Formats: sequence, structure tokens, C-alpha cells
Amino acid sequence: MSRRARRWAVVVAAGRGERFGGSTPKQYTALLGRPALAWSMSALLESPAIDGVVVALAPGDRRWSRLPESRNPKVLACTGGDRREASVARALEALAPLARDGDWVMVHDAARPCLRREDLDALVSATRRDPVGGLLAVPVPDTLKVDDGGGRSARTVDRAGLWRALTPQVFRYGLLRRALAFCIERERSVTDEASAVEALGLRPRLVPGRADNIKLTTPADRVLAEAILRAGRRT
Ligand code: C5P
Repeated sequence: MSRRARRWAVVVAAGRGERFGGSTPKQYTALLGRPALAWSMSALLESPAIDGVVVALAPGDRRWSRLPESRNPKVLACTGGDRREASVARALEALAPLARDGDWVMVHDAARPCLRREDLDALVSATRRDPVGGLLAVPVPDTLKVDDGGGRSARTVDRAGLWRALTPQVFRYGLLRRALAFCIERERSVTDEASAVEALGLRPRLVPGRADNIKLTTPADRVLAEAILRAGRRT
């Protein structure tokens, strides 16, 4: 029997985050007293558009079971892989008994704790009838330089038409599995789902999002993320 297309979320939290430093992996760093991963999941868990969430964890992760989110009946955990795309592929495998090819899957970085509900809703409505799917993205505001390998600017890149890719990124379950398998088999490195889908010759929709949906990368981002989350509480 046919059923409506469901919408799943995958949160990738299996990275080591080496540029972030410290002994706590960045997905568990405390932001206003709450782990980044819990913040990153909150908009997804609050959204009635999402039927379930799969979290991909690092092997041997002992922090996850301490989070209240680990006991949420809408949440399933699995072990991730050695690269981001392998972690997404594992999460999609874990969804196999529940998901159909026509269902939507929204992939979000655990390292992006400042995702707002309004951005999630904008992504859902902009892609609802899209044949490919899409991603939150922000037009690049700065002038871009290419270095000469010796610390000097060799040339300037025209920023017109350039975007920063954010997450969530949303694609149909079947398409995303095919795209990731295509790239993994060919050992093509992909840093997001959209690039895997582009490798199949398709063009994901760019959905303008908020520039403050930042990714925790260096220790300075922690301070910035806390300021963004604090400001979000007031709006
Ligand atoms: O390292 P980077 O910041 O690009 O990672 C983006 C997201 O992908 C993070 O949330 C990280 O935990 C996740 N990741 C993963 N499995 C890996 C590498 C990264 O789930 N092997």
C-alpha cells in the first residue's frame, strides 16, 4: 500500500574534529551548559515535519547515552565511518528497514548547533516539489583570493555566483544512497551530500539560509556559537 513520503533526519556526529582541539570532541562541547549535539538536534526534533532522526556516532562513543536525546523514541543511533560520507552511508543503512526510496532525508552536521527552525522550514518548503532536493546555503560576501603557495595573493576570484554550503541538505532516500555509493566506489572525496548528487549530473536547489548557522571548527567558534544561541533565545 502506498503511504505519504516520510521525512527523516540524519545527524552526523562521528568526526574527531581535530582543528577544534581539547579533549572533548566538538560535537559534545558545552554551549550555554548543553552539548553541541543536543543543540544541533533540537530544531530537527521540534519539527513536526520530521518522522525520525538517526545519529551517527564515533565507535566507542560513551557520551551519547548521557544525553536525554538518546532516550527519545524518535531517535535511533548507529556507528559512523572513517569519513563524513561513510557516516552518512551507515546512517542510511540503519534507516533501510523504515525508509522508502521516495522518502526525504535531511542530513545535518552535529557541529552546526545554531540551526533555526525557520531555516529548516524554509528548506522543507523550497524542496517539497523539487525533483532533485537541495541545501541551505549563503552567498559569499567577501572578496576571495587564491594564494601563490608562498603566502601571497596570486589572484582574485570573482565571487558572483559563489555560495557557502551549509546543512541541512535534503534529498530523496534512494537518490542519496545511489549518489553516495557512486562516489564511495570511485573513491571520490565528497564533503557534503550535494556534491555526491552533483557527481550524478544533477543540480541541487540552493536555498538561502542564515549566515549564523555556523560550523564549529576552531575553538573561537565556541564563543561565537554561544553568542548566536543566546541571541536566538531572545527572538
Ligand atoms: O570535520 P567536519 O567539521 O567537516 O565534520 C562535519 C560533520 O561531519 C561533523 O558533525 C562531524 O562529526 C561529522 N563527521 C562524521 N564522520 C566522520 C567525519 C565527520 O560524522 N568520519
